[in-house]
Amino acid sequence: MAKNYVTGMHHVTSCVGKAQEDIDFFTRVIGQRMVKQTVLFDGSTPIYHLYYGNRDAQLGTIMTTFPYRQAGIRGRKGTGQVAVTGYSVAEGALEFWARRLERLGVANDGIRQRLGQSVIRFEHPSGLEFEMVGDDRDARAGWTTDEIEEKDSVRGFNAVTMSVRDRVEQERFLVDAVGFRKTAEDERYQRFEIAEGGPGCTVIVRHDPDVPQGSWTFGEGTVHHVAFAVRNDAEQMEFREQVVGMGYTDCSESKDRNYFHSVYCRSPGGILCEFATSDIGFTIDEPAEELGRNLLLPPWFESRRAEIVAPLEPITVPASSLGGKVPA
Ligand SMILES: [Fe+2]
Repeated sequence: MAKNYVTGMHHVTSCVGKAQEDIDFFTRVIGQRMVKQTVLFDGSTPIYHLYYGNRDAQLGTIMTTFPYRQAGIRGRKGTGQVAVTGYSVAEGALEFWARRLERLGVANDGIRQRLGQSVIRFEHPSGLEFEMVGDDRDARAGWTTDEIEEKDSVRGFNAVTMSVRDRVEQERFLVDAVGFRKTAEDERYQRFEIAEGGPGCTVIVRHDPDVPQGSWTFGEGTVHHVAFAVRNDAEQMEFREQVVGMGYTDCSESKDRNYFHSVYCRSPGGILCEFATSDIGFTIDEPAEELGRNLLLPPWFESRRAEIVAPLEPITVPASSLGGKVPA
């Protein structure tokens, strides 16, 4: 039996198309708070790394995106990926979201049932799939805008849906190595929960045995990875040893992501799972009320700022997505 080091979801990272289109989708349509503007730390092509979250910029609500159109690489959707990223809203808010998505021309499937929950699946402009999950257990504080009241606001992540061809090995990884427990199952879907369970502590595995494998590279229109939270460096190292010791050897060393430290493991179903520390946070380089206002680089990039920023698409962040006082 695995020792459980994971306290819940940390963030989800996806590759999108253009930066402004992405900002408009997450801040205006979904009503998220802008939490951080920075850049991709890996590779040589400057690419934005944009972070969105709820009112308190809590781990487990943080969506991060790489606007990959700039590099000209498109991803291929398929198995071995997070297929759908799910947000929680109040059960009573689903009608609001069904109407809102229609009115804004966002492709969606209307309200449907899955494993006993009501969900609306909808699409990001890059083709990424999201859903609103009606879940009254989620008491996290949503960000509000002129168009989205607190009662209708997005609380944070509910669950990610992983698409796999073989679900036996994926279950073994999630349960035996990571510490999830299986809490629901039907012919196509399995629900796994960790820590206190419920919103932000849930993974859904979707069995797609006939769907070809999707791409793993950074590529527009695909989720790159899902990150789960571990407390600190020491527990991250113990956790990594546990996972590798069970034979899941495709795990990176710990990498410095400035706001957290990350270990990346390729799960047997193909999905890249990150295990990120939760003891650093987003206020190490700007105050909580000013999150997301300015483009910030990690200290090791600061001397190259001009060369990194020059090729980036100019962006405008809506005032409605920023906290604190708007400068005159
Ligand atoms: Fe990540």
